Amino acid sequence: MLGIPQEDRPQIHVWSEAIAKGLGFGKQDPAVAQHLQSFAEYTSQLVANKRVEPSDDLISQLIAIEEEGNRLNEDELISMITLLIFAGHETTSNLIATGSYLLLTHPEQLKKNLNLVPSAVEELLRYNGPATSSGPRYATQDTELDGQLIQKGDVVIPLLKSANRDEQQFTDPKELDIERKIKRHLAFGHGIHMCLGAPLARVEGDVAFTTLLRQLPDIQLSVSQEEIHWHSALSSQGLASLPVKF
Ligand code: HEM
Repeated sequence: MLGIPQEDRPQIHVWSEAIAKGLGFGKQDPAVAQHLQSFAEYTSQLVANKRVEPSDDLISQLIAIEEEGNRLNEDELISMITLLIFAGHETTSNLIATGSYLLLTHPEQLKKNLNLVPSAVEELLRYNGPATSSGPRYATQDTELDGQLIQKGDVVIPLLKSANRDEQQFTDPKELDIERKIKRHLAFGHGIHMCLGAPLARVEGDVAFTTLLRQLPDIQLSVSQEEIHWHSALSSQGLASLPVKF
């Protein structure tokens, strides 16, 4: 959809992973800054190439909008494209990896029928979604929350994972139940900055889990649960690797 050449994808994976691990509020890691810089340089070159040879993809369409004049300038274009490449990559990979891990470690859920996969995707997003916090927000008015005064103008960092386990919203929130009827959750954030790629991520999760479970019905972990390592940053979480046998 975006128009990223196939051969560039392994490098993009390296950048996305490094950035996702290293990003955090107030964190300034020189190695991450270097990856960000290289990523932005890559995007600039990609844009330069597509200006000369546009094709039927989203990046070429954004370039056309920028070239039209006053809706998007070059900095915004590069930043938007870098965000689109990054935001859609690490998060969805993490949903597929952690979702597979959760399904493999809750085998009673796996036995349920594959038509439940769309509802399983929602539950996996709620239960342990890849994004643990949304982008920061600013309080527009003084607000008291659970005895804590949040003053107008304060920065607030909503913890999505906590909201998604709110016992006032969900029965037995710490239980994974792929048949749960979820009215809404916050795994994709909320409001005007809610995830632009949510419908795509849902489809990707649906296709990935359905294919995996259909093709490899006997799939199981090949190591103990204790040997699975999580990497957690303030705003994201995922698995270092997921060894399986089938
Ligand atoms: C399971 C996969 C994904 C998760 C859990 C996820 C989660 C999020 C979250 C929590 C936000 C911040 C929302 C907020 O601050 O309220 C966000 C923003 C965003 N996401 Fe995703 N995302 C996923 C996949 C994708 C994909 C596939 C794309 C695009 C190809 C994408 C593009 C974006 C963009 C462009 C934004 C910024 C929106 C804005 O600031 O207006 N995401 N995502």
